Amino acid sequence: MGDTHRIRFEPVELEIEAAEDETILDAAFRQGVSLMHGCREGQCSACKSFLLDGDIQMDRYSTFALADYESEEGYVLLCKSHAYSDCEIELINFDEDELRNAVPLQQLRTRIIGLTHLTHDIVSLEVELIEPAAYVFKPGQYSDVLIPGTEEHRSFSMATTPTESARVQFLIKRYPGGRFSGLLGGGLGIGDELRLRGPYGSFTLKKDSERDIVCIGGGAGMAPILSLLRHLVEIGSSRRVHYYYGARTAADLFYVDEIRELGSTLPGFVFLPALSEQTTADWAEIGVADGDFGFVTDVVDRREPDLSEAEIYLCGPPPMVDAALALLDGKGVARERIHFDKFTTTIPQT
Ligand SMILES: Cc1cc2nc3c(=O)[nH]c(=O)nc-3n(C[C@H](O)[C@H](O)[C@H](O)COP(=O)(O)OP(=O)(O)OC[C@H]3O[C@@H](n4cnc5c(N)ncnc54)[C@H](O)[C@@H]3O)c2cc1C
Ligand code: FES
Repeated sequence: MGDTHRIRFEPVELEIEAAEDETILDAAFRQGVSLMHGCREGQCSACKSFLLDGDIQMDRYSTFALADYESEEGYVLLCKSHAYSDCEIELINFDEDELRNAVPLQQLRTRIIGLTHLTHDIVSLEVELIEPAAYVFKPGQYSDVLIPGTEEHRSFSMATTPTESARVQFLIKRYPGGRFSGLLGGGLGIGDELRLRGPYGSFTLKKDSERDIVCIGGGAGMAPILSLLRHLVEIGSSRRVHYYYGARTAADLFYVDEIRELGSTLPGFVFLPALSEQTTADWAEIGVADGDFGFVTDVVDRREPDLSEAEIYLCGPPPMVDAALALLDGKGVARERIHFDKFTTTIPQT
């Protein structure tokens, strides 16, 4: 460890210590403080904060997450920031409850018990825990999955809930040549061991909120939303949920029956698929009451004239999340009520 420095966060009046060779985000995790974060790779901007005082240097990050003019003004990405003096940092996004109640990081040995191809490119990967016997996490969080035989990892969100603590399901989009997802085409099989580290992520239900929930997802972004839905059903929630799911064609839809089943116990539940590369569909045959055509964000725009009081959960490919953030901004949704996970790739894009 290099020298350590005191880091003070405003306006929450919280202090941690950070060594020069660790990021401020990791230092906070180590001390049980969960700062707002997403990718932890300098790509999503969820951890963007403002440096009020002190000397910080950042590792390489994407200018999609932090534009040059923002960094010149004093904004920093805490997942890439190293402190070289005592610092004072203003948190832009934070949740007081989350800050102080982080679930401790766990290292887990697991064994693959299920590999199911749900569509041409989405795979359900199920693992059971070998050690420890249970995984403590909050619905909507994600894990780092180590790529076997390497020290590299990839991030995948849990689709299950912590109630089923000995079995975890991930929904993974397969990319030909993807270092991890490429292994799901035959390189990995039932019985193989996988190591996980987690939980990470701020895409969790806000405690004590009774607000209506609007979920907007696409592709494998189904995973953490499914975890939230399963959890809402488990706790007998009476919150109204509208779930918009973007897919290219009807062939890209999956778990329609399970979502309908989950929704049948949630009051006023609506599941609405938006197909971007199809202009007609037999919704009854697909198994949904209704659907629409076009990009999912355009469909939300048309169908949700007033989102000002709702809590929004956004998850999926970065262009979809960025388009949704712009839409919600235009609709006047308060930033603290928008929770998002951008499924960024590990490989820097700039
Ligand atoms: C917080 C978080 C949660 C995530 N949860 C999930 C999840 O639940 N399910 C899931 O499938 N993914 C999820 N992702 C995204 C996933 O971590 C990345 O897609 C990952 O890079 C895929 O790893 P890989 O080894 O298969 O591909 P890599 O070897 O990392 O990538 C190989 C190539 O495949 C292409 N590629 C890979 N991922 C993408 C992408 N997302 N969009 C476009 N092209 C891509 C790129 O060309 C890339 O160069 C999440 C990401 C984050 C940050
Ligand atoms: S940019 Fe820091 S968590 Fe994504």
